Amino acid sequence: MIAAVRPSISTMPGLTIGDTIPDLELETTHGKIKIHDYVGDSFCIIFSHPADFTPVCTTELGGMAKCMPEFQKSGVKLLGVSCDDVESHKEWIKDVESFTPGSHVRYPIAADPKREAIKQLNMVDPDEKDAEGKPLPSRALHIVGPDRKVKASMLYPASTGRSMEEVVRVVQSLQLAAKYMVATPVNWKPGDPVVISPGVSDEEAKRMFPQGFEVKDLPSKKGYLRFTQIES
Ligand code: BEZ
Repeated sequence: MIAAVRPSISTMPGLTIGDTIPDLELETTHGKIKIHDYVGDSFCIIFSHPADFTPVCTTELGGMAKCMPEFQKSGVKLLGVSCDDVESHKEWIKDVESFTPGSHVRYPIAADPKREAIKQLNMVDPDEKDAEGKPLPSRALHIVGPDRKVKASMLYPASTGRSMEEVVRVVQSLQLAAKYMVATPVNWKPGDPVVISPGVSDEEAKRMFPQGFEVKDLPSKKGYLRFTQIES
């Protein structure tokens, strides 16, 4: 008997890092939105949820709303996607705000009853279907840059709620890397030292980072692990 197998990652089509986000026109709780116009010249987080009025999604939407002041400070926009219709989203927001005190869902949530958007945005969960057998979104999240290209993506199943702290952390890392020739090391948190990108020579690094940098002495003596501190 031949077992059914899913296509391997390399043959699976789907939006990934470096791709331009499709310029879809979406019905949202804030009216019609064209994704490229909405992104404008900001970073934008586009995130999906399996369905309205479900437990984990309700906690996540509130978590995202609570992070809004943090995102606004860094000029980051948010756009939620859930397949149910706009009227359902508006009703659901009342539950979300009631469950998470202090949260105000001020970001738009798109409807996608035909599942066109979730397919184009690579947000379909192959294991989740609604009562009519229609596909449902995974907990997908794309962080899009001002150039409308995907800078980072997260894909979680319905059973695992995301860490909003991690989303904030990744956005801050991306924004630092976009501004300076740096990258953020393991378990980096805002305010921690960053590493200087490998393409930067020591001479260039001296000009770019007048605050100085520390070269770690490693067995290879290659001098590639250089830490510096960026003031926020
Ligand atoms: C939830 O949000 O809790 C959920 C949604 C769909 C499937 C499983 C859990």
